[in-house]
Amino acid sequence: PVSERIADLLGRMTLEEKVGQMMQLDARGGDLDDLIVGRHVGSILHTSPEDLPRAVETVNTRTRLHIPLVIGDDCIHGYSFWPGATIFPSQLGMAVSWDPEAVEAAGHATAEEVSCTGVHWTFSPVLCIARDTRWGRVDETFGEDPTLIGELASAMVRGYQGGAKAGEPLPKDAILACAKHFAGYSETQGGRDASEADLSHRKLESWFLPPFERVAKEGCGTFMLGYESIEGVPVTFNKWLLTDKLRGAWKYDGTLITDWDNVGRSVWEQHVKPDYVHAAADAVRAGNDLVMTTPRFYDGAIEAVRTGLLDESLIDEAVARILALKFRLGLFEDPRLPDAARIKAVIGSAEHRRVNLELARESVALLRNDGGLPFDARPVAAVAGTGSGARKRIAVVGPLADDAQNQLGDWAGNSGQVGWMPDGHPRDMITTVLDGFRKIAGDACEVTYARGADVIDLVPDPEGEFYPDGQPRPKIGVSAPVDRALLDEAVAAAREADLIVAVVGDVVQLVGETCSTATLELLGGQNALLDAIAAVSRETGKPMVTVLVSSKPQVLPRSIVGDSGVLAGRCNDPAAGAGSILWAPNPGMEGGRAIAEIILGEVNPSGRLPITFPRHAGQLPVYYNQIRGQHGDRYADLTQDPAFAFGEGEGYTTFAYGEPTIVGGASNADGTFARSDTVHAEIALTNTGRRAGTEVVQAYVGDIVTSYSWTDRELKAFRRVTLEPGETATVAFDIPVADCTIVDADANRIVEPGEFELLIGHSSRRTDLKRVTFTVA
Ligand code: IFM
Repeated sequence: PVSERIADLLGRMTLEEKVGQMMQLDARGGDLDDLIVGRHVGSILHTSPEDLPRAVETVNTRTRLHIPLVIGDDCIHGYSFWPGATIFPSQLGMAVSWDPEAVEAAGHATAEEVSCTGVHWTFSPVLCIARDTRWGRVDETFGEDPTLIGELASAMVRGYQGGAKAGEPLPKDAILACAKHFAGYSETQGGRDASEADLSHRKLESWFLPPFERVAKEGCGTFMLGYESIEGVPVTFNKWLLTDKLRGAWKYDGTLITDWDNVGRSVWEQHVKPDYVHAAADAVRAGNDLVMTTPRFYDGAIEAVRTGLLDESLIDEAVARILALKFRLGLFEDPRLPDAARIKAVIGSAEHRRVNLELARESVALLRNDGGLPFDARPVAAVAGTGSGARKRIAVVGPLADDAQNQLGDWAGNSGQVGWMPDGHPRDMITTVLDGFRKIAGDACEVTYARGADVIDLVPDPEGEFYPDGQPRPKIGVSAPVDRALLDEAVAAAREADLIVAVVGDVVQLVGETCSTATLELLGGQNALLDAIAAVSRETGKPMVTVLVSSKPQVLPRSIVGDSGVLAGRCNDPAAGAGSILWAPNPGMEGGRAIAEIILGEVNPSGRLPITFPRHAGQLPVYYNQIRGQHGDRYADLTQDPAFAFGEGEGYTTFAYGEPTIVGGASNADGTFARSDTVHAEIALTNTGRRAGTEVVQAYVGDIVTSYSWTDRELKAFRRVTLEPGETATVAFDIPVADCTIVDADANRIVEPGEFELLIGHSSRRTDLKRVTFTVA
């Protein structure tokens, strides 16, 4: 049995070999011999395809016990660093689909592509909750809601790990998943990355922990820690989080890894440890297994054991978990080396492109339709049935219209932050919005293009070229000035067109780790471009669509959302502002095609917001399930009502909801529910329009009176339902009473007796929800 093999190995390993086994070091540009032979490392990350077989060979020929390396990488929405790999929509884009099956398929396709390259482990998915959305890593999240995050993250874990449950061996075409960043990393100050946050145990229990608990149960092989502290104790040293919660209450027996140099940062940046000896000892004591990129952990941990500061048995426990991971992957029998034939067959395969396109179609949200969509691209006379007539003209304008890199977004091997992969992804694999219109409508109509505006200029960071640890600081992006010539060209193209598509958004230099932004406004000449195009649309009556291709919700100008959109009122009201609005959060390689298909009516949009769109950055944080406050909890000069609410999104048909009913589940004779019961509810849904379409039916629960301040309603379940015109379906939900919890002052999850509301409907807005109540005894 594996446990005996682990005990046997541990019995033969020296202290140096055991400490080395706990280290994951960066293979880029490093001396592999020094890492593997000199420091006995157990894991490497960011390995180049050339180095990988050499590293395995070194283990096999030059180490005493031939313990295989576990090789990890950031394969975040596809294999980011492999030229030609399939790049899917960002995690936030995937979340727009509200479709666990599609997300699982993307995870599985990624696992097939990654596993054949010799990499065993991806540092994905991210389970952070989007809060202050100026944070640079919002694109990596599944949005703001713990239930939605838990569902989609579990699906992704199943996709990566081939459905293997906790401890089970992984199939050959599967990879280990990593739930990160445990926990509360996204609760920043002002959105600034890795800033200290006010994280109480109650806050963690209320929002940040539930999705992690969910994937722990799903068998997610590894967890990565965040950079932040909880009540003054950095997560890396947080016994409450790692030992009491994760290992204790949740009985998680997977492997933990720190984030990048968390142990070192405690010494050189946060000054909470006096030296590497204490830092190493405390990190092991708190329950860490692998230590990412802290070379000095090696000497520190050895000295801590030799001086009696650290008990060697704790090192043994960590190493046992790392070895168990390697057995789970079967690495002792098969090092899973790169497989040239499989690389050729699966990376960027037609099947993966299909999976990607299907997901991209669901990852676009139609936020407002002013009636101009879908656009009929057929020549005018052909529409009237009188033979071929004048071809229509579509003007595709804006800096994101034909920008492959920024359509893919961060973690696509070509971002400003990571930019070490020189080749990027082959341009012809990526369909931009302009490409999409040309491919789909290029025969029927004339497609013209004008860039219209620049977004940013890159300038050296005024705080210096290097970080304190010697890493180079990227240049900073400042808003580019309005370029009159570019603007005039776009306006001229718009004037000539039958449909104007303006594609705007953000750029990778202002996205990602260490790349938070102070504002959510569109940068550079983009607002001026939208103002000018909206003026053309108003003056000429030509339909216009704003397509936001971005890493996160951005604030649209008054010309688009209207004055009421800035101050109050629903922004999906066709009377507000100008034109229709689509949001495609970094929609991946097939994103441009999916957007064109939706605008041209080949695909009926079905995306829903997994995150709230603010009217103004000053509203942040703004999310639907905030704790109930007093005095209306708002500003004097601005409503706290968002531009677009969690769950919103339109399609090209209409749906009518019946009244929800509770049809069973109560075990008490008086009809009240016990805490062990499940509420079974049903609602009728009818497609009342003239096209087939998909509705995402959302079920929220609110505890009407709570002993501790709590939110008004929380998402508990959802279903994607596709109906033909005129068709009616009964949509059923089973909601365990045990899920209808609040969190008390001591951070315990409790169900309180009393009356609850079950709210079912189209979005998180109360006005979109039908209500029924039930009582818990
Ligand atoms: O996986 C990432 C993590 O999300 C942020 N810091 C670096 C890690 C490895 O690249």
